[in-house]
Amino acid sequence: CEGGSLSIVVLGASGDLAKKKIFPALLHLYRQGFLPPSEVHIFGYARSKITDEELRERIRGPFIQAKDAMPGDFETVSKFLQLIKYVSGFYDTEKGFRLLDEEISKVECGSSRRLFYLALPPSVYPSVCKMIKHCCMSKSDNGGWTRIVVEKPFGKDTDSAEKLSAQIGELFEESQVYRIDHYLGKELVQNLLVLRFANRFFVPLWNRDNIDNIQIVFREDFGTEGRGGYFDEYGIIRDIIQNHLLQVLCLVAMEKPISLKPEHIRDEKVKVLQSVLSIKDEEVVLGQYEGYTSDPTVPDDSNTPTFATVILRIHSERWEGVPFIIKAGKALNSRKAEIRVQFKDIPGDIFKCKKLGRNEFVIRLQPPEAMYMKFMVKQPGLEMATVQSELDLSYRQRYQGITIPEAYERLILDTIRGDQQHFVRRDELKAAWEIFTPLLHKIDGGQLSPIPYKQGSRGPAAADELLVNAGYVQTHGY
Ligand code: BG6
Repeated sequence: CEGGSLSIVVLGASGDLAKKKIFPALLHLYRQGFLPPSEVHIFGYARSKITDEELRERIRGPFIQAKDAMPGDFETVSKFLQLIKYVSGFYDTEKGFRLLDEEISKVECGSSRRLFYLALPPSVYPSVCKMIKHCCMSKSDNGGWTRIVVEKPFGKDTDSAEKLSAQIGELFEESQVYRIDHYLGKELVQNLLVLRFANRFFVPLWNRDNIDNIQIVFREDFGTEGRGGYFDEYGIIRDIIQNHLLQVLCLVAMEKPISLKPEHIRDEKVKVLQSVLSIKDEEVVLGQYEGYTSDPTVPDDSNTPTFATVILRIHSERWEGVPFIIKAGKALNSRKAEIRVQFKDIPGDIFKCKKLGRNEFVIRLQPPEAMYMKFMVKQPGLEMATVQSELDLSYRQRYQGITIPEAYERLILDTIRGDQQHFVRRDELKAAWEIFTPLLHKIDGGQLSPIPYKQGSRGPAAADELLVNAGYVQTHGY
């Protein structure tokens, strides 16, 4: 046990997030050798009174059905499951946490590294953090540490998020708190820094002189599916836009950081967020899909948007006048998440035969990952005609045989390594809430209401009109 021991505690171990995302991510890390069994111990903690074996069985199901399960994997899965122990206890009393501490201490040797993943609703974060602080901290100074990972939704507006941050801040240093936003773990989101700052041809073009508008879009072709109760309290802006899409916007819009150090990157992201101007009501379209309220956990008169298009404007020398069109919706006609950077028209067009299509650079975060640039070429043949075509980088073709890691896998590894680059800092979170809090309060107060839209559609027609008014021009093909 030369390197000491690493205990990973998943709180909320019997819940959906743990089962669908966290345990599978840990298995992938284990399979790749990042969690050596000589050092690593995994604990599940929850209120249910179940045994180690029962927890392992619950976790095993999704692994066996996993699409990438390969022959020989069953043995790996079984070995991995043997690393997992279960402790049952409440989230607000010391008894369970003392027991957890005893169990961890039993297996520890050398420096003790303890990672607590709160796969729990934020309402219990303060009490759980208190219990960890009182009962379960790492006892070794020599290379030991205690870190906590918290999930979204982290608050409901600026005040509630700040309150939560202050409660956690009284117990843990900022360097111990990892606020996870799984979009920051996606391959093509991580690629944004390289794309922007390692390519000469993007550097001079990435500004208001050349770019007309930027869209950041999230679409899902399914509704709230059993999560209606949770979703109705939050809505699409808190569920997707305030966190995932705003994080993407930061990486698209920020200035070049001094270095790749987490604090340098996060400093630049905060500046972008702080430069976003107040949202105008006329630059917002909200929608709610028909049938949303038929979920028994959703009130019949719900005012919660399941769709939103919002135009954000950044007050800076680089971006003045460039609309950032942020769009997210559930139960739409397709599933994708992408960034579309649309360049300006070329003045003095000499190719009169056909209107020139705009250059558009599309970064498709998923699925499947791709980047392509729409550009004009001569239509092959005897005539001098123009046609829009694509420079296309499809990850599946170009990187055959390379498995793109799951976002959670990457982010959990970062927490073990102590790298906070891809986690949201407290001031960043506050600045992100400040952008949306006034709008959210108007929706909560019923001053703004969603327009109904059909399931499987593009969302409310008014959102397309907003897009056109913001200057977006439909490009051809692809
Ligand atoms: C979660 C939201 O954060 O992200 C869900 O709560 C959403 O509503 C999910 O479905 C989308 O994540 P991904 O990685 O599938 O785009």
